[in-house]
Amino acid sequence: MQTKQLYFQNKINDPAIKKAAAFIRSGEIVAFPTETVYGLGADATNASAVEKIFRAKGRPGDNPLIVHIADQSQMNSLVGDYPVYVDELIKAFSPGPITYVLNSNGTVSERVTAGLDTVGIRIPSHPAANNLLTIAKRPIAAPSANLSGKPSPTNAGHVRQDMNGRIAAILDGGAANVGVESTVIDCTGAYPVILRHGGISAAEIDEVIQIQTKQTEVEELSKPKSPGTKYKHYVPDVSLILVNDTINLQEIIQTEQANGKRVGALVTDQTAQEIKADKIYSYGKDERELARHLYANLRLMNRKDVDIVFAEKITADTVGHAVLDRLQRAADSII
Ligand code: TXA
Ligand code: MG
Repeated sequence: MQTKQLYFQNKINDPAIKKAAAFIRSGEIVAFPTETVYGLGADATNASAVEKIFRAKGRPGDNPLIVHIADQSQMNSLVGDYPVYVDELIKAFSPGPITYVLNSNGTVSERVTAGLDTVGIRIPSHPAANNLLTIAKRPIAAPSANLSGKPSPTNAGHVRQDMNGRIAAILDGGAANVGVESTVIDCTGAYPVILRHGGISAAEIDEVIQIQTKQTEVEELSKPKSPGTKYKHYVPDVSLILVNDTINLQEIIQTEQANGKRVGALVTDQTAQEIKADKIYSYGKDERELARHLYANLRLMNRKDVDIVFAEKITADTVGHAVLDRLQRAADSII
């Protein structure tokens, strides 16, 4: 299959949006930009279209997909009753990088929900995503548009690396602004529960409505993890080690170099000025830049340049929490 490249121009009757919407309506799958990462979209009401997503990504069938919609009125046709706090969350954060897990009313294909009674609903704010949803007039099921296990794509070039020849088209809308995926929040109980940290931080949500944090997630974040666990994702081509203690980073790098290894360092701009390595991958200057550049950096790491990369641990403030979570999943070990 030849993968068409369509360029979003953000204008009325945008031809790229029309073409992408026609593909979605005819049961094809299309990669499209969102404010978080690029998604790989299919008509959520068409089981055979949704099936194509799982095949193109090599995604395990028991992992449910997020359903993207244009506005809240479309949500009401897909879900059952939900707690009143959902309206408050929507008012505060949508359109934007947050996904609400709600009771499904059965409209969305079982292939999307992986047989669960719930469905993840997100209203993206990126104009290309929003226009596509409006013109296609379909709820669009979309995971991140990477091969399963690889870092999520934050530009159209990343999508092409993974999906060329596997999908009908890529809608190019430039680089994603947030850089990490949406916050997934379970809204089926008396309090919302964060299932995955993302573009909207727990602290921001907590200001609107009191949340509960899943105990297992707290444990996961503080415990060094072993390789090959079911949490492993976003894997770069070379070994990545997360370093808790920045003070010893230079010494750690030099020890590896003395063993003949070419060593990379993924560090903040500030640390980059103080440290020497064979290659520096830069996080940028603050949490927002760090999130924006994370996946591009993970994709850049390869054996031609380095044998091993040490990543500086960052504070889990605001969107930094999501970044740290992704780093821990990407890392071979934490030292
Ligand atoms: O920002 C994002 O969320 C991006 C863009 C494309 O919207 N999408 C994304 O999708 O990251 P994906 O498939 O890579 O991750 C979706 C996450 C998975 O961890 C999945 O298990 C969870 O959301 N999820 C989806 N539906 C769910 C449900 N009904 N209950 C619990 N978790 C759900
Ligand atoms: Mg993903």
